[in-house]
Amino acid sequence: MKEVKLETTLQVYSNIVELPKDIQDLMNAAIIARNKAYAPYSKFNVGAAILLDNGEIVSGSNQENASYPSGLCAERTAIYYAGAKYPSAKILKMALTASSQNQITDTPIPPCGACRQAIAEYEIKQDQPIEIYFMGAKGKVVKSHSLANLLPVGFDRSYL
Ligand code: THU
Repeated sequence: MKEVKLETTLQVYSNIVELPKDIQDLMNAAIIARNKAYAPYSKFNVGAAILLDNGEIVSGSNQENASYPSGLCAERTAIYYAGAKYPSAKILKMALTASSQNQITDTPIPPCGACRQAIAEYEIKQDQPIEIYFMGAKGKVVKSHSLANLLPVGFDRSYL
């Protein structure tokens, strides 16, 4: 038996103002998307904004359903829209923000496991890392230099 140690390094910005200007703009697009979330059941609004290499910003929010599992997270709403509208564009960066309708969410909220898997597919497809920035409603913003950094030991097409 041998032990394998995996390491993840993240950067933590103290607030949105500390981010580079292009990421501030992207995070602001995610906030606008978050405010359009349809989340009557969880009362948890999530917004995602994606910067493509053609300069376009594509955004999305979580869309819930009375049949709960039929709803979709913000990240997947946005990334599937980007994939459908601009199939040959590369995804450079992604900004995520989440806020509860019941309390102040001031800790960074990372993407769920299913969304990491979905984003991983595009990162592998384009063979170029996707930078991910995530925050709550306000406060600290966490940066991951790639999706793979957030999903070690992932499942991908190489196993099929
Ligand atoms: N949600 C997202 O949009 N993204 C995530 O990464 C985690 C959860 C949504 C799904 C659901 O509408 C609500 O947040 C509560 O789970």
